Amino acid sequence: MHDESAPNTTWSGGLSDDISRVILSEETIQRRVAELGAQIAADYQGRDLLVVGVLSGSFLFIADLVRQINLPLALDFISVSSYGDRTRSSGVVRMLKDLNQPIAGRDVLLVEDIIDTGLTLSYLIDNLRTRQPASLAVATLLDKKEARVVKIDTAYIGFECPNEFVVGYGLDYAGRYRNLPYIGVLRPEVYAGGDK
Ligand code: PRP
Repeated sequence: MHDESAPNTTWSGGLSDDISRVILSEETIQRRVAELGAQIAADYQGRDLLVVGVLSGSFLFIADLVRQINLPLALDFISVSSYGDRTRSSGVVRMLKDLNQPIAGRDVLLVEDIIDTGLTLSYLIDNLRTRQPASLAVATLLDKKEARVVKIDTAYIGFECPNEFVVGYGLDYAGRYRNLPYIGVLRPEVYAGGDK
């Protein structure tokens, strides 16, 4: 049973202790997300905007982003799994959860936490295009340009990302660290310990 009198120091302290360097602070992220939201609201005024989050990594970004878009938008989620090693996708993608609704004739904005090789989005864009949306655009919080193997047209980019393995604000290492409110680099000891 949870003891209300005991501070949960193990969890909150332990999480940040694994980070060697903060790349984007919570304040910096929130400021940029507000700018992107305002830009998207201006661009999509009067249109039938359907914002589609690519799970799981985009969950915090999309939650903050849609609250900064002052339009009566609709929301949906899609989930794919890409085969590959721990830190890099292979381009072979499997649909885990499809959209809940048709997108024909709608203005779809795909929201990602990060574009790395571009293979995941390349698959998703090809797949969604066959459903004939009125338009299909991409918003990503992070753009790791150096890692790209396929070209992706990205309408909205939060930040360029260094070619390092970053975690936080939705991004995970072995399923952990998604709940950090900022983005940082993991200490090498965490990798050395293998998958947690
Ligand atoms: C991450 C991220 C993107 C993809 C980008 O997802 O959320 O979807 O990798 O990599 P790419 O450009 O090389 O394809 P991941 O497969 O790690 O799943 P997650 O969103 O559940 O963390």
